[in-house]
Amino acid sequence: MIYFDAGATTLQKPPTVAAAAARAISSCASPGRGGYPAAMRAADALFACRQLAGQMFDTEAEHVVFTMNATHALNLAIKSLVGPGDRVVISGFEHNAFRRPLHHIGAEICVAGQTLFDPEDTLRCFREALKPGTKAVVCTHVSNVFGYILPLEQIAALCRERSVPLIVDASQSAGVLPVRLRALGAAFVCMPGHKSLYGPQGTGLLLCGAQTKTLLEGGSGSDSRLDDMPTYLPDRLEAGTHNVCGICGLMEGLRFVRSRQPGSILRHEIALRTHLQTILRAVPSVCVYSGEPQAGTCSFTVDGTDCEQLAQALYARGIAVRAGLHCAPLAHASAGTLQSGTVRVSFSAFNTMEETDRFARALRAVLQKR
Ligand code: ALA
Repeated sequence: MIYFDAGATTLQKPPTVAAAAARAISSCASPGRGGYPAAMRAADALFACRQLAGQMFDTEAEHVVFTMNATHALNLAIKSLVGPGDRVVISGFEHNAFRRPLHHIGAEICVAGQTLFDPEDTLRCFREALKPGTKAVVCTHVSNVFGYILPLEQIAALCRERSVPLIVDASQSAGVLPVRLRALGAAFVCMPGHKSLYGPQGTGLLLCGAQTKTLLEGGSGSDSRLDDMPTYLPDRLEAGTHNVCGICGLMEGLRFVRSRQPGSILRHEIALRTHLQTILRAVPSVCVYSGEPQAGTCSFTVDGTDCEQLAQALYARGIAVRAGLHCAPLAHASAGTLQSGTVRVSFSAFNTMEETDRFARALRAVLQKR
């Protein structure tokens, strides 16, 4: 199978990831639940992973909280800062992982910047929307549908200037672009472990630069006499037994990213995406959503062809892509593709030019059969 759905999860991982997760299942117990070797091994493994993540994403190890995924991290971040009726400014490219918690809370949502591949317009819209009384800004770094890289550093500077807390969704950028909590001055940065950090599913990270509220309460292995969760991180937000095996795998994913270098992984993915877009543009009736700055993700539609059916026909030829709305109806509304959806191709460090050429041949064959 040719796997082009890294935007959902990376399927090909460095072999060290599965090996570490498998080792942990028979050698690690619960961290903080005992002083015997298996519990200490787990505690050491978690601390090492926090430390590495802290180095890579510019924060202290204690401010790295393990979560189940980015959605879990985003819920923690949003519910720490936002209450009913609070005004929140979000970009026009946010995922349901942000939109739905904000709707659920009853926040007043103000959408800023809906033009694809126009960072100046995005920034101008944020500048206008950041009125006094804004409780938080929520911004994705890279659109999961179109690969549009938003001007995060400038948006962060604006938030610092106006003293508005910023929550960053780094779901599509952690592992390929610089993501620095302290340098951004962000309140929170949220990321999955299972995408471009090459960890197992069931892992995610919340980087904390602000006061937090709990989402779950329970055993933390610390201060057990307290009726409430400890006040200090990471224990405050990590109730219950950790996904130790997943985190041990994530550690190896982080090591892989650090050794390959995010910038070089991004260049590889951009080279594949550019090659694909050149091919797609030559196919009649294909509309490619491209522009600058764009990461290693690309969406397209084909006139008169249903996206889901096209993806099904590609699966039949051994190619995995994601079609539809990608859990991001707002991004599709911004781009004018809410009715049709798109077919999305998203690359990882493990994809090749040869796979991209095979994809192009398969697409042509599918379209000729229409
Ligand atoms: N948010 C993930 C995606 O874009 C699941 O596919």
